[in-house]
Amino acid sequence: QIQILHTIDDIRRFVKQHRADGRSIGLVPTMGSLHEGHLALARQAKQQCDIAVMSIFVNPLQFGPAEDFDRYPRNLENDAKLAETAQVDAIFAPSVREMYPNQQFTYVDVELLTENLCGASRPGHFRGVTTVVSKLFHIVLPDKAFFGQKDAQQLRVIQQMTEDLNMPVEIVPCPIVREPDGLAMSSRNVFLSPEERKQALSLFRSLQEAEMLYRSGERSAQAILNHVAAIIKQQPLADIDYIKIVDAKTLSDVQTIEQKALLALAVRFGQTRLIDNTFLD
Ligand code: PAJ
Repeated sequence: QIQILHTIDDIRRFVKQHRADGRSIGLVPTMGSLHEGHLALARQAKQQCDIAVMSIFVNPLQFGPAEDFDRYPRNLENDAKLAETAQVDAIFAPSVREMYPNQQFTYVDVELLTENLCGASRPGHFRGVTTVVSKLFHIVLPDKAFFGQKDAQQLRVIQQMTEDLNMPVEIVPCPIVREPDGLAMSSRNVFLSPEERKQALSLFRSLQEAEMLYRSGERSAQAILNHVAAIIKQQPLADIDYIKIVDAKTLSDVQTIEQKALLALAVRFGQTRLIDNTFLD
């Protein structure tokens, strides 16, 4: 029977008990509206740890003033049912007041890695992410925490944060989970109209074509980016935020691909901003 805990005291008590019994703890941080991508992380957590804790918290600190915090989909009851099918032992679902009862004076900010890609279009976003993930780590004290490659920059930033601040948590990356037609799963996909959703398939298609170009020997970032942009621009509803090839470690732009690179993109369809990526390795 899955436990749904709303307070920091309760989740701490839950974890403490299991630790005392010698069990390891895996944490899957989410903002809810669960889909198969989240559930894959949960299954991985349960495979690698004795106890899987999933946090569900739509973190206001990581949304800009003009972003979709208010309309972000929330459905705890359904999420609990889905989480239970993935053998999650406990959901930590705090209120905003529970997480931020008073003015927050302390923030975690990872420099440089947060300047490019989504960090450039969403100022303050990663500061909100790293601050809330730090809080979650300190509340749950997990042995391992599970993050999706779907949010490649987020994963890289959190890896760096735990390394720089010596957090005793192992970060486990998990592959992108896609719909059968290739669209990367996202809680925001529910906002897409049927026509937008159809055109959004161009993202995955363009990434696949980029991989093909790379495998056939193309090493010029510009050549690959031009090809990707041309495919996406064929879609009348697509509004490109960025398409970039960056070094997988530093996340800074590369001209010629010589080491493991990340091809990452963000494209708006109507009100909905989608991200996707692939490694060129
Ligand atoms: P959210 O967007 O709910 O994503 C929670 C986790 O699920 C992240 O690690 C994300 O990378 C992963 N995920 C989402 N879609 C995925 C997919 N299609 N395949 C694989 N993994 C996927 O990311 C956040 O929440 C927040 O920023 C959070 C880390 C919880 C901090 O608030």
